[in-house]
Amino acid sequence: MSTIPVEQLTEEEAKAELARLAKEIARHDELYYQKDAPEISDAEYDALVQRNRAIEARFPELIRADSPSQRVGAAPAGAFKKVKHLRPMLSLENAFDDEDVRGFFAGVRNFIKELRDDPSIPIEVVAEPKIDGLSISLLYENGEFVRGATRGDGAVGEDVTENLRTVQLLPKRLDGKAPALIEVRGEVYMEKAAFLAMNEARAARGEAVFANPRNAAAGSLRQLDPRITAERPLKLFAYALGEASEEVAETHWEFLDQLRRWGFPVNPESRLCGSIEEALAFHHQIAETRARLPYDIDGVVYKINRFDWQKRLGMVSRAPRWALAHKFPAERAVTVLKSIEISVGRTGVLTPWANLEPVNVGGVVVARATLHNEDEIARKDFRDGDTVVIQRAGDVIPQVVSVVLERRPRGSKPFSMAAKLTPPGQHEPVCPICGSKAVREEGQAHWRCTGTLVCPAQAVERMIHFCSRLAFDIEGMGEKNAAAFWSDGLIRTPADLFRLHRRAAEIEAREGWGAVSTRKLLDAIERRRRIPLDRFIYALGIRQVGEATAKLLARHYRSIGAWKQAMEEIVRHPDGEAYHELTNISQIGPSVADDIRRFFAEEHNREALEDLLTEVTVEDFTRPAAAASPIAGKTVVFTGTLEKMTRQEAKSRAEALGANVAGSVSKKTDYVVVGADAGSKAAKAKDLGVTMLTEEEWLALIGGA
Ligand code: IVH
Repeated sequence: MSTIPVEQLTEEEAKAELARLAKEIARHDELYYQKDAPEISDAEYDALVQRNRAIEARFPELIRADSPSQRVGAAPAGAFKKVKHLRPMLSLENAFDDEDVRGFFAGVRNFIKELRDDPSIPIEVVAEPKIDGLSISLLYENGEFVRGATRGDGAVGEDVTENLRTVQLLPKRLDGKAPALIEVRGEVYMEKAAFLAMNEARAARGEAVFANPRNAAAGSLRQLDPRITAERPLKLFAYALGEASEEVAETHWEFLDQLRRWGFPVNPESRLCGSIEEALAFHHQIAETRARLPYDIDGVVYKINRFDWQKRLGMVSRAPRWALAHKFPAERAVTVLKSIEISVGRTGVLTPWANLEPVNVGGVVVARATLHNEDEIARKDFRDGDTVVIQRAGDVIPQVVSVVLERRPRGSKPFSMAAKLTPPGQHEPVCPICGSKAVREEGQAHWRCTGTLVCPAQAVERMIHFCSRLAFDIEGMGEKNAAAFWSDGLIRTPADLFRLHRRAAEIEAREGWGAVSTRKLLDAIERRRRIPLDRFIYALGIRQVGEATAKLLARHYRSIGAWKQAMEEIVRHPDGEAYHELTNISQIGPSVADDIRRFFAEEHNREALEDLLTEVTVEDFTRPAAAASPIAGKTVVFTGTLEKMTRQEAKSRAEALGANVAGSVSKKTDYVVVGADAGSKAAKAKDLGVTMLTEEEWLALIGGA
């Protein structure tokens, strides 16, 4: 058992220890209940359970599905029911300085044609404190609170209705006239004073304390016993609209007022601002007075006031174009950089990171920070043993900002990746994990391990990525298990995961495993034999193909067969039509296309893919709204100047209706929308006989004239 007091554990250490404890306690449960052969005394067993509980109390966000605390007796309690939000719960784009905020306003002005054409029209925003709590979605039917859920992954959250019912400020029934159905979004939080008092009482009882108010709020809501939630001093602010059966307001400011009339607590600090300057002034004022607020805030959220503009602005990947989080400056601390270490990522990138003397930065203990790359280290001249300033901003990974030169140890040497990567007695930089040659290609910022297929670090990282939440989302196959299973040869390629059921006996016999945990893992894998195309593409871990790019590809090619065929065609004809079709997808440039081509050019990758496809079913890309749309699946090109909207808005609307917007005209184009002063694209459309539409015809087609 670890001897580090719970209070001093870093998040990383806590995570590792919880993983270890879950395994260990499960093993003792099995020895005791199933085999009737306990290896430890009851007191020792209780100490393990108590330690697990104490760590979880401090870091509720790290509670594992397989934690002993989530079980009633021997069987897992099944945790919370999942609920699909009627509208996705989005995240926010971050701004860190005034310049970013001006950029946001400029983007809005450029998007909405009336605003671009007439700079004198003001852009009103509502500025609200950004509460550091836990976001929730509240569903009301005919004014009655029927369901409450956490954000989860944005699409699906956890049903915490019964716990939320115990929050006193939450209206169980709306006052006055209410729509048939409405989703209200807001934040559950704990006030600073209540948090301190609660921690004090817990400490006095010998219980573990929470690390910060946000963890305390999350831990209180995300545990299974509503009686416990009821005892916690949770509060609520409502601040956004989800789905609604009817229009409830024309502006966000009006909506906040409506929320108040329905009986919701709405943040009294919120302001309607008529200009950028007013919005920034609000930010500066609240940054100065925030210590006097009874709750923690980590910035200001600006929201475009007019709902019709919000709707037109829409969203990019997971964040709305109509809102922005303006964060407060990061919290800083001084500590010692013990050494610069190197880790190997899934694509072979060798990333230097700072191994730090652990230090508390704004309530979180930090022991590691990112150092980006060699040039960055050289620019700031970080050296082993230096005293450095580190900073943490919100959920961002901690960064090393600068060196305190006066405290530099005598005789220290500048850091060099080549030297660090060259083992004593050798002459060449090599990967610290597999020993393959390490190279830094010209024009690239990163060093890279060349052992793509032999480097265990890359293979394990790829496997972890494959199983991660936004990819195959296989519960129980996180860092630890993926690494252990890989090194023991149980899984070498993704397809192996789906064949693990044949090796159940071997898994069960592993240390810390038993019949129950093995079944749980295999069930989690079985549940993922069907997967949507975009997740599948993302899971492959192709360089530069993140979540958003994977979605673009899925939307364009629609089925795994079509996508695979097109990509293989590109390998055969690197400059052929298939390649141009790919780079013609908006937001996919040659650099991304080349990485996809390189992936398919490797026979090993093609084999692994084919193998995987014998095990899983990839669902074609569909979007519910688009099915009913007249332009779903059509390829559209815009050319010339449009009257009613900017090109960007036209494109965003077409995409929201399920169309693919392309940059150039080809035989595959379905419609070319021709604005004023159209040039060669219109001519080419005529040549190829592609249907051409005026702006009015286009608007009539999509029903938005
Ligand atoms: S609006 C689409 N307003 O910030 C906009 N969010 O980083 C939805 N948050 O998940 C969010 N205070 O948990 C909004 N006044 C506020 C907020 C707020 C805190 C949180 C919320 C959200 C996160 C996004």
